[in-house]
Amino acid sequence: MHLLTLHDLGKEAVAELIDRAIELKRRHKRGIPYRPLVGKTLLLLFEKPSTRTRISFEVAMTQLGGSTIFVTSQDTQLGRGEPIKDTARVVSRYVDSVVIRTHEHERIEEFARHSTVPVINGLTKTHHPCQVLADIMTVVEKKGTYENLKIVWIGDGNNMANSWIEIAGLLGLRLTLSCPDGFMPDEGLVEVARKEGAEIEFAETPEEAIKGADVVNTDVWTSMGDEEEKEKREKAFKGYQINDTLLELANPDCIVMHCLPAHRGEEITDSVIEGSNSVVWDEAENRLHMQKAILERLLTGEGKQR
Ligand code: CP
Ligand code: NVA
Repeated sequence: MHLLTLHDLGKEAVAELIDRAIELKRRHKRGIPYRPLVGKTLLLLFEKPSTRTRISFEVAMTQLGGSTIFVTSQDTQLGRGEPIKDTARVVSRYVDSVVIRTHEHERIEEFARHSTVPVINGLTKTHHPCQVLADIMTVVEKKGTYENLKIVWIGDGNNMANSWIEIAGLLGLRLTLSCPDGFMPDEGLVEVARKEGAEIEFAETPEEAIKGADVVNTDVWTSMGDEEEKEKREKAFKGYQINDTLLELANPDCIVMHCLPAHRGEEITDSVIEGSNSVVWDEAENRLHMQKAILERLLTGEGKQR
């Protein structure tokens, strides 16, 4: 089984992963060792930079008793033109699972088609499933549930927004988005999520979107790979900043989330990210616990409810 998008998991598995990650975090904090992946190797093949995804997967694998190999395409024959499908067939004879971070989603799909071991999406241009799993875990930790909350996305309709839409469909969430014209998320994903039972709304302005919010989410205006559009984006996203004035319209106990890295002064102010509503550091920590739940599930089949 691969984890390329959240639909590869489905509703039941997503719900189980949240509970399992919370349980693995609890055990870890108590110092209880758990090493189900002794002798297993995870390959991290990254074609974009990373701090959280790389390090949390490496530490997760270490804590579970396994080991990791990190490569970029430049370190390998991929950089000299060896086809992705040949690479997939070869490396899946060596390692037990592969995390890929790349540009076009089709590239990870092609790898997965030719891989005999589970492939995990560590971010593509259109999806960031592992991040959103850690995010929903954080929502459950902070709010006790994901049900009946007003969850808001303000900013770019990017990979993060798409994965939030997917999880909204799977879990039946209430999600309000406000994105500038020309920067909307994937329409097809919105349609599917609505059919699955998500309540998805698009607000004309960030002010309208954030009113009464329980969870506020944003992300950079210029994602990796979009750098050529930086100036155009800065203009388009003016007014989409999460600052203290905007946040006053949300519920007083709302949580503010950001997958990081953040660009203070652009999509979010220093005052908000450092403020009492911000949960970004716990959110980042939860990447580790969620990666462990994901790896356990994909590599051992454990962590499923019986
Ligand atoms: N949030 C996230 O994926 O961070 P990195 O780019 O540092 O991995
Ligand atoms: N949307 C951002 C997320 C970074 C973790 C990007 O793709 O660059």
